Amino acid sequence: MMTKGVRLAFFVFSLVLLLGVSYLTTGSLIPMGKSDIIWFSMGGLMILLGSFLVEYFYTSPGDVLVNTSALALSIFLNGLFPTGWHWQSIVIGSAILFLLATLSILLGEPYEEKNATLQYVARIFMKVSTKIGRSTVLFSIAFLLAVNTVYGFEKSSIPLYGFWVLVTLLRTFPKEILDVLKLGQPSGTPLLGRVLFHHAPKVLFGEVLTEKERLSFGDVVIISNDYPSMDDGQLGLIIEIISLRNRRLVRIYRLDDREDQSTPAKFFKIKNPSETVSDRLMGNLIWENRDKIVGLLDKGSMIGLLKVEVLNHVELETGVLVEAKVGDTNVIYQVTNATIWAESIIEGNKVDYKLAEAQQLGVWDSKNLSFNSYGWLPEENSLIFKTLTEPITHAKPEKMVHIVGKIPKSSFPVCIDLQKLVVLHTAILGTTGSGKTYLALELIEELIKRNVKVICVDRAGEYRRRLRDEALDNIFEIETTDQVTNFLQSDKLLGLYEFAACQTDVDVANSVATIMETVSRWCEDNHGVLDFNEAKLCVVLEEAHNLIPEYMFTTKDTSDIVNRVSRDIFQCRKLGIGVVLVTQRTANVSKSILTQCNTIFSFSVYDNTSLDLLANYMGSHFTTVFSNLKKRQIVLVGSASLIDRPVILELTEIKRPLRELTAGEEESGANTQEEDLPF
Ligand SMILES: Nc1ncnc2c1ncn2[C@@H]1O[C@H](COP(=O)(O)OP(=O)(O)OP(=O)(O)O)[C@@H](O)[C@H]1O
Ligand SMILES: [Mg+2]
Repeated sequence: MMTKGVRLAFFVFSLVLLLGVSYLTTGSLIPMGKSDIIWFSMGGLMILLGSFLVEYFYTSPGDVLVNTSALALSIFLNGLFPTGWHWQSIVIGSAILFLLATLSILLGEPYEEKNATLQYVARIFMKVSTKIGRSTVLFSIAFLLAVNTVYGFEKSSIPLYGFWVLVTLLRTFPKEILDVLKLGQPSGTPLLGRVLFHHAPKVLFGEVLTEKERLSFGDVVIISNDYPSMDDGQLGLIIEIISLRNRRLVRIYRLDDREDQSTPAKFFKIKNPSETVSDRLMGNLIWENRDKIVGLLDKGSMIGLLKVEVLNHVELETGVLVEAKVGDTNVIYQVTNATIWAESIIEGNKVDYKLAEAQQLGVWDSKNLSFNSYGWLPEENSLIFKTLTEPITHAKPEKMVHIVGKIPKSSFPVCIDLQKLVVLHTAILGTTGSGKTYLALELIEELIKRNVKVICVDRAGEYRRRLRDEALDNIFEIETTDQVTNFLQSDKLLGLYEFAACQTDVDVANSVATIMETVSRWCEDNHGVLDFNEAKLCVVLEEAHNLIPEYMFTTKDTSDIVNRVSRDIFQCRKLGIGVVLVTQRTANVSKSILTQCNTIFSFSVYDNTSLDLLANYMGSHFTTVFSNLKKRQIVLVGSASLIDRPVILELTEIKRPLRELTAGEEESGANTQEEDLPF
């Protein structure tokens, strides 16, 4: 392969040769005889133009149209058509090639959905027409035929045949000789392919024209019309390689912001870009973060919810963070749906591609350990990265703030405001064994550390066995509901009310009602109505579906009591009292109480009641999240979360050795586990 300069030199040299040969054989530089015109202009000149200038890289169906029509017209105009079957065959052949090239152009239009067989046929037509219809083949036939017709194999025609042989040799000048003479392309920039179309100002699709070159994500190309020097053309990054039937397409992202908006037709591979074009790549953020590119912003994105076209070599997971640059701001999003399959049409072929949905968290605010929402959307087709921002984690949370976990596969902490957690009520939902009790215990321990009194209503006796030693020292045994006031007056912070499994629904609900009434009265007497959300006391209802059942699942008497509890809970916010409901049966727990819970921690859930309820809190695009949550992962939503949108997080691992039951506890059957209903 030669550089532009060498090709031009060869062209001029061959042209001079052609004129010389013409002078030798016809006595004039430009011959005028009818048959001579054909070999001179149609043969010689067109071969030179095609060989070195117009079709040096490849022949397009458009070139075939020009070549065939020029040749056929010239045969007609010079009156050669009637003179023999060979000229007639050439004209007919040209007409067929013209037709094939036209059909391949019409059938192969990109962007339009077309029948796949038609596409295949178009491809064959294109291959046949461009192989035979290229100027070197077509005009060589015309040239040799014309010379043969006019001069035959005589001595005088030797310069003409010689000219043809020389030009053919020059065109295929061996690479080795070019290398020795240093006339070839700059080393490391082989022609890779041609540009098919621009998809967006920065994104273009190209077709790879060589089968030899191995390509991978992150290769750098120069987009240019000719063999470029390292300062020419536009730099592009190959971000995707797409196999399309027997073709290889690449998606190229333009790396530089050069003003040049032209559309060069070819691209060349740069070997060792970090050495050869290091000065052009230095400081280029896209190049430096190329390993973090996950996709491009797709149409249909909204400020709060992005649709990302995921590159085919990238695998995203629910919960991970991605980031986009909006101007100079790094905005962070969390993947809520990692794989949605979609179809697009490239070059008339259907191509499957992956979309992901990512919800905006916002711009990281390291001071408040939270995200601030951002009001702008990244541009369509802009690059989306894995997180580029690193959180500064040494910021100290405020007194009532607790870090419950972190965002999956990142070090961004997720914090809760314990004050709001209590006074605005909270629910912990999830299937059996998902970790609800562990989370409740952690919240309880954090509350008592901050001097908020807690009463746990627990039938299984599990709390006593799992609490850490520090909390255990703070326990006040509430044996009957009459002792609630004693606990409130004591300096202990954790009141444990365990009731026997044999109690009826009415008795259990009555106990809860009494507890709520007692604490409300006590708080009102001691603190009065509070103007601000100051947490004074929290009532944890473990296995809440047993304590405050939904009316459909219980008797009228129990249901009346539960309604009373619901009213009390509604009233107690201003007294600084809150409840934390823990349940694996969303359907069975009182909805009038559950819907008062402003903050929800939800592990994976599958039942429709839970999913419907959660969709109301976080929007239906979150529904798929719950079936994709991994061990220890939850969705947190509500005022207690410092992040003002639903967020997927991974809870902190906590070790809780199981304390042995005492003989008395075993006897009373306090640890009886019941069968769980399947949902
Ligand atoms: N944060 C955590 N760190 C470490 N292990 C945990 C954590 N949360 C849960 N586990 C593990 O998962 C098990 C089940 O947790 P837990 O008892 O809290 O689930 P649950 O949802 O309350 O179940 P159930 O519905 O049966 O009451 C625990 O015994 C513990 O081994
Ligand atoms: Mg539990």
